[in-house]
Amino acid sequence: MEEVKILKHHPKEYYNRLCTYKKYCFHYLHERQVDFKDIFDKLQVKKDSLQVLAIGTGNGDADVPVIDLMTNKQFHINYIVVEPDAAEIEKFKSLVASKQEQGDWKSVNFEFNQTTIENYLKEAKKAQVKVNFDIIHTIHSAYQFTDHGSIFADLYDILGNRGILVNTMVAGPQEQVNAKAMEINPGTRECPGSASLRRMIQRRLPDIEIHTRYRKSYCSVDECFKEDSKDGNMLLDFLVQVVDFRKHVKEGVLSDFMAFFRAHCYVKDGQLILDSDEEDIVIFKK
Ligand SMILES: C[S@@+](CC[C@H](N)C(=O)[O-])C[C@H]1O[C@@H](n2cnc3c(N)ncnc32)[C@H](O)[C@@H]1O
Repeated sequence: MEEVKILKHHPKEYYNRLCTYKKYCFHYLHERQVDFKDIFDKLQVKKDSLQVLAIGTGNGDADVPVIDLMTNKQFHINYIVVEPDAAEIEKFKSLVASKQEQGDWKSVNFEFNQTTIENYLKEAKKAQVKVNFDIIHTIHSAYQFTDHGSIFADLYDILGNRGILVNTMVAGPQEQVNAKAMEINPGTRECPGSASLRRMIQRRLPDIEIHTRYRKSYCSVDECFKEDSKDGNMLLDFLVQVVDFRKHVKEGVLSDFMAFFRAHCYVKDGQLILDSDEEDIVIFKK
């Protein structure tokens, strides 16, 4: 049997499986934006320039509603992106160019850093430059961070007074399926979802207040149970974070995992659904 390929080490495969996941998974972006608006409205910053750190943005699609919200407040914004994938950064830059050509986001100054958050924080410490951020966000990007306790402690440290840190991740049934997949293939993710991240942050920062917001969301997963479905296998790969999972996993392990996965789904309007709810973890700097 060939060696198991962990998705995060294969960017081309990672992003085409992420696209398949997005095709079948329905996150309510409008409701996410409404929740973010409510969170940002609590920002008690009395200045006309906002410092924002956006971590693991991918191509910037998920940042659009966030940036739109901020520009509606007419702040001048320094928007610092930390994203390790060069191709995704290029797509984000094109998105910015097309927005600015249409006259939007003119008050936003973008800085793109092609690196991981681990390296970004290490370099910032080495250079002894401390920016106090008003907003830091990690939208569906913290799954692969290493040592969440110390990363979130460092992020808390670089938040300015009354600054806000928002982390969005899957929660509920999909988090449980992710956790099961991690047992089969250690090293695929460091964190399966929001509830586990909350526990890690609380262990490291026991005195901070953590607020949460929960949104329903779902993924249509019928295709995953059709052995020969191209989309189904791509979607399954994304859920377990392994390239060609069906080919590489032992038969008994595969059938146990699929039974666990099926037990976390339900049928609605004739479709098999896995709830892929989202939770925002919101931390205000005291
Ligand atoms: C599931 S995608 C989410 C992209 C986008 N935020 C969204 O919600 O559509 C996860 C992103 O996190 C990035 N990422 C993975 N590990 C990271 C790390 N250690 N530091 C910063 N970003 C990371 C990946 O390159 C990828 O673009």
